[in-house]
This record gives sequence, C-alpha cells and structure tokens, in this order.
Amino acid sequence: MITWPFSALRGLSAISVDYHIKICLYVHVQILSALRASAEETRLRILAICAHSELRVNELTQILGQSQPRVSRHLKLLCEAGLLVRSREGAWAFYRTPEEHSTSIGAELSRVLVDLLPSDDPELLRDMARLEQVEKERAAQAEAYFRANAAAWNQIRSLYVEESAVERRLLELGPRLIRHHVDLGTGTGRILEVFSSRSQRGVGIDLSREMLAVARANLSNARVAKHLSLRHGDLYSIPLPSHSADFVTLHLVLHYLSDPAAAIREAARLLEPGGTLIVVDFAPHELEFLREQHAHRRLGFSDDEILGWYRQAGLVPGKPEFLAGESLTVAIWPATARRRDA
Ligand SMILES: C[S@@+](CC[C@H](N)C(=O)[O-])C[C@H]1O[C@@H](n2cnc3c(N)ncnc32)[C@H](O)[C@@H]1O
Repeated sequence: MITWPFSALRGLSAISVDYHIKICLYVHVQILSALRASAEETRLRILAICAHSELRVNELTQILGQSQPRVSRHLKLLCEAGLLVRSREGAWAFYRTPEEHSTSIGAELSRVLVDLLPSDDPELLRDMARLEQVEKERAAQAEAYFRANAAAWNQIRSLYVEESAVERRLLELGPRLIRHHVDLGTGTGRILEVFSSRSQRGVGIDLSREMLAVARANLSNARVAKHLSLRHGDLYSIPLPSHSADFVTLHLVLHYLSDPAAAIREAARLLEPGGTLIVVDFAPHELEFLREQHAHRRLGFSDDEILGWYRQAGLVPGKPEFLAGESLTVAIWPATARRRDA
C-alpha cells in the first residue's frame, strides 16, 4: 500500500510561503487541487511511472493492471492539476511528468512527490518491472520493423526527402576537419560515408544487427571502410567515453525514439567542448500513415522542442534550417557543446 508522503508538505512549504506573501488566492487553489489529485494510491503510482518514461494510456493500463476508463480518469485529474503533462500527436497522446525546468506548482509538487516515494516499495518495484517489459516490447517492435526493411531502407527514405539536397547542406554546415565522428542510429551508414573524406575516424552505432550488416556492405562497396567502423549499441547508452567525439550526428532517427530528449543528452555527453551535434529530422507534420506503417513514433518536431532539449543538455543551439519537400519538411538543427572557458 503506497501512502501519500506527508513530508512532501515540507518541500512544498517554501513554495506556499512565497506565494502567501503575494496573497495569491489563485495559487492556493492550484496547490489544493494538486494535493487533492495526488492523494490516491494509483495516481501516485502513475506519477512514479511517468517520471521514468513517456507513456500512452494503453501502456499505462498494461503496467497498472487496471481498466482503460479508470486509468484515463486518473490521468485526467493528474493533468488538470498540472502534475502530469499530456502531449497530443495525431491519434496518440503521451503522458509524462513536467520537464525538469518547469516551475509551475504542479511540476514542483510532482517532483517532490516522486522523490519521496519509497523506491523499495514492492508495488512500485512491480510497476517498474512491468514498465521495463513495455519498453522492451516497444524496442522489439521498432527493431522488427527495421529488420524487415533493412535492405529496402535507402529506397523508403527517398520517398520522403531529396537525399542529395540534405547531404549537400549537411556538408556545408558540418565541420571541415573531423577527428572523431559518431553517427547514432547509423542505419545504412550513409552519413558516415557522406563525411568520410573529412573524418579521421568515424563510428556508426545502431541497435539493429541487420542494419549494421547493410551498413557494412555499403561502406565496403564505397571503399571508405578503412577509418570507419560500426558498432552494435543502444544510443541511450552509447558504448563510448564522454567527450570523445568532436562531431555527432542523428540523421532521421529521433522520430523513432520514445525518449528523444534522452538521446540528445547522451549525444551531448559524447561531445568534447566546442564539438558539433547535428540532428536532422522532420518538422511537425500530420502524415499518420508514417506511424501506422513505418513505426514512426513522432510526427516531426518543433523548433521549441528541439532547442529546449539542446539547452537542457548544455548545448548551444545554432540556427535551424528547413528544406521543404512535397509533403515533408526536413529540418537541420545544429548545436555546439559549450567550451570549458564559456
Ligand atoms: C530511419 S533509420 C536512419 C538511418 C540513418 N541515420 C540514415 O539516415 O540513413 C533509423 C535507424 O535508427 C536505428 N535505431 C533506432 N533505435 C535505436 C536505438 N535505440 N539505438 C541505436 N539505433 C537505433 C535503427 O536501427 C535504424 O537503423
């Protein structure tokens, strides 16, 4: 049985005192509604789960073992109180705890509560184990898709964007001389190949062994394999040391991921001070079939979203560029890792 952590009131008192001084009735109403919304066992469990991952209702239903209408009602109350954030993307809705930098009453209370929940509570431990299972299923679905499409990937990609135009622009924006290039979600290895004449060393990382096999074949066909290598790995925990790369790329990968912000943080960890990150992905769109038929998790990204994640990861955003196509716009988002003296 998870009980409401009353010590949260201590953490909250700083917030309330501040607002008492301003005699702001509105804020009191907010605090009370957030406290009321959190005072229920399942809702505390939902907060703990959503602090780890962004989830859809059916995924939460699976983890909590409760009916969809019940879970939806809990989610509605938590969102109304600002303890959870709902983001809608086409036919899907994702729920998560508010971003770290958010200073709303709901966000602060949400953080205080999650921190105070006992991590060894058996119910919460079971929830975390089921969350891990849900995440594994997600990853397996994405991997199955890539496996099925490994050989045809180059062809599928050309349906969305004019590849050569994006690559030309990337070459103009990318560093002239690269000591160590890391391409995350390298797929066919194409981006390693594009920068190969400028890089002293290039490593492509991908979760799909089949894609790596295709990349290996492509790179050796292109006779650029000598200084380029491929590694099997998850871009959420890249098997490379921190600050070891001066150039990192994420080319048309982010929209497959359940936690793009974490991917950007991990990319930033790899960069040495002054190093460059370039993310290429789609601007927001409404092509739902990409999700249904091609395992896209996100229908593009807004500037605000990407630049917000850059700043949170300690990167300095550069000027985004957009290449409009027939139905999709490709966005190029450059960023630089802060120099030590900055
Ligand atoms: C659309 S392909 C893009 C490939 C390549 N960047 C390109 O543009 O040609 C996305 C790639 O991301 C890889 N991927 C997806 N999730 C990943 C993860 N968590 N870690 C590493 N690679 C991942 C997939 O296996 C796939 O090869």
